Order: sequence, then C-alpha cells, then structure tokens
Amino acid sequence: MVKISPSILSADLFEIKSKVQALDKAGVDYIHIDVMDGHYVQNITFGSNMVKSLRKITSRILDVHLMIQPVELYIREFIEAGSDIISFHPEADENSNEIINFINEHNVKAGIAVHPKVSISEIEKYLPRVQQVIVMTVLPGFGGQKFMHDQVYKIKQLNEIRQKNNFNYNISVDGGVSNITSKDCIKNGVDILAVGSYLLNKEESLYPELIATLR
Ligand code: DX5
Ligand code: ZN
Repeated sequence: MVKISPSILSADLFEIKSKVQALDKAGVDYIHIDVMDGHYVQNITFGSNMVKSLRKITSRILDVHLMIQPVELYIREFIEAGSDIISFHPEADENSNEIINFINEHNVKAGIAVHPKVSISEIEKYLPRVQQVIVMTVLPGFGGQKFMHDQVYKIKQLNEIRQKNNFNYNISVDGGVSNITSKDCIKNGVDILAVGSYLLNKEESLYPELIATLR
C-alpha cells in the first residue's frame, strides 16, 4: 500500500505540533519536512531545529527534504537532529557522492530529489546507492502549486531502472499531490506520496478520510 508523507510546509508554525499528532493518530507513515534556505529556492522555512522538535513528538519516519545550497555543510546537524531519511538536490552541491556516503555511514537513509528541470539520466549515477528518489511535480519552493503531469513519466522510468538493475530505492512524488493526481502516480509505481496542502489545510478530524482518498 502506498505510504503517506504529509508535508508540514503549509501549516501555521504554532499548529504544527497538534497537526503532526493528529496525522500520526490518523496513521500516516512519514512526516515530510521541507527545509528551504532562501538560496536554492526563494523561500526560507526551518532548519534542523524543526527535526529535533518533531523527533520528540512522533515516532513516524522523519522524511527531510533539503532545498538548500550548498548541502554538505549541514548534513551532520540533520543526522544528529534525528532525521530518518535525508533527501537533497544533487545539483546543489558538487560533493553529492560524499554526502550520500556520509548519510549512510550514520545509518540514515539517503535520498535524491529530482527538480522538474533535471532528467533521470542526469541523476542515474546515484541510483545504485540511495534509498529514496523524490520526483518533484512542482517547482521547489512553495506548497499549493499545480501538479505537473509532465513529470509522471519519471516515476515510470525510475520503476523500470529499479526493476532492471534490482536497485532498492523507494520512489516518492512531491508537489500538488491530491486524491486526483495520486492515482496516475500509483499506476506508474510510486511508493510514497508527499502531500502538503491537500491534507494540512484541512480540518484535523478529516485526516483519516482524506488519507483514504489518496490511496
Ligand atoms: C515544495 C515542497 C513540497 C510541498 C508540497 O518545494 O518540496 O513538499 O510542500 O506541498 P503541496 O502538496 O501543497 O504541493
Ligand atoms: Zn518536499
């Protein structure tokens, strides 16, 4: 069954705790934490301090999505803060191989996030060594954007490469995911749905029902 990774990006900062507790209770699998530095993207959100605080209130998988540049400098603090998966954009740092090794050496899963402008062939060299690939279906930087259907083929491509080479990464889709757009992703073999505004802007009591509509 496809896993749900709600993104806290669109939540009011002071409501994050109650929303994450409600999502946890509603049975989500991950919590997706969008870290933005105002340099890789024109937006600033939060840092490893958010991971540290969330670690105290949930045992769900902390799925950290770094939209920062450079990357290497900050990996250690996200590991120490309690991240379970750290995904980053390889074009944001020339030491992507070392970053993946460093994350894995510290028993944390490493992920690659694929910007809509980046092709799968450009990141294929990392696939043997990562445990997650995030296909972005919006331009990184903001929640609430329109789903980019022309990115779905990457899910299919990643699925084929995984099967052909017996790689073991999970495929996640991130951006504009809803009960409508999730179905095409699931059909193409996605494993995880990162979902922001479709869930976080709604009443907490609706979470179980909304989660069911995504699957
Ligand atoms: C965008 C982030 C996404 C975003 C998803 O840069 O990586 O995780 O928060 O939010 P929605 O689901 O509202 O597009
Ligand atoms: Zn994200």
